[in-house]
Amino acid sequence: MQEQIASLKADISQQISAAGDMAALEDVRVATLGKKGSVSGLMKGLGGMSPDERKVAGPLLNSLKVDVADEIAARKSVLEAAALEERLASERVDVSLPVMAHPSGSIHPVSQVMDEIAEIFASLGFDVAEGPDLETDFHNFTALNIPAEHPARQDHDTFYLKPDANGDRKVLRTHTSPVQIRTMLNETPPIRIIAPGRTYRSDSDATHTPMFHQVEGLVIDKDTHLGHLKGTLEAFLKAFFEVDNVTLRLRPSYFPFTEPSMEVDVQCSFDGGNVKIGDGNDWLEILGSGMVNPRVLEHCNLDPTVYQGFAFGCGIDRLAMLKYGMNDLRAFFDSDLRWLRHYGFRALDLPTLAGGFSR
Ligand code: DAH
Repeated sequence: MQEQIASLKADISQQISAAGDMAALEDVRVATLGKKGSVSGLMKGLGGMSPDERKVAGPLLNSLKVDVADEIAARKSVLEAAALEERLASERVDVSLPVMAHPSGSIHPVSQVMDEIAEIFASLGFDVAEGPDLETDFHNFTALNIPAEHPARQDHDTFYLKPDANGDRKVLRTHTSPVQIRTMLNETPPIRIIAPGRTYRSDSDATHTPMFHQVEGLVIDKDTHLGHLKGTLEAFLKAFFEVDNVTLRLRPSYFPFTEPSMEVDVQCSFDGGNVKIGDGNDWLEILGSGMVNPRVLEHCNLDPTVYQGFAFGCGIDRLAMLKYGMNDLRAFFDSDLRWLRHYGFRALDLPTLAGGFSR
């Protein structure tokens, strides 16, 4: 019996070490320890033995079973380690490859231009402020020195909501200027913010859409003056249009919320159908601005004998059209994939002043 077990054991050990992969090893396990395996068969024979025979054979067979199981487990870890080594040697992840070779989405020119504007003004020390699209009459008009019967209300082609129980009508903000009011009411000067966002007016043609985008600028401090306004706008327009020089023309104008008010034109040329900003014989109106009207400061609980500042408001869509050469504003909001692919920006291509904005 002892010899029979010893020779079976030698045979099994040889099979185990010869097993070249997990499948072969599993075959050995089934053929020995499996239900119908050789070792299991011998174990079953214990039942038919006399008690004396069993006393001898029992421990021998048990240790055979344990030894075979241990050897199989040891071989298994050797094979597993070898398989892992092989995978590590043959498989590689190239971390320098882009995540997606062909991303299918793109950044809309309006978003891109907003990012560019925020980047430029951040470098000048401005924060980005926000306000709601649905505004109160107070923030959109009254606090900006446009009281109920003021003619400027008619200019704005306002979308009004139904009046609430108190008779107050909210409006879809007609400009980003109400963010000035919200900022002055919530913060103490010095204030330096821009407020990009959506604005709404009931108007639609090649250069007007019912929803459009503006960016507002506001600076309030004790000794802010027109020179600061002009310098800020020059710095902004130079960086935005990526030109070394811009010549500005400040034209006297009227806005209820600024005094004095001016419209700002940049010198440009229209040679060959393309606008070139910087020099030339033409002027392009680009934004409205002025020194914040003392009445507006009063509405925001700021003492106009202590504080003053400047503000400006500018159409973002128009800036995008000028910089990236689109001629119909309506296409901005058509969701035409061909247009978006042509004018869209790559998602990871964030505009930075240091890196340059243009593609
Ligand atoms: N809110 C004006 C508009 O929508 C633009 C504007 C003009 C904003 C002058 C200003 C400003 O802050 O000072 O037409």
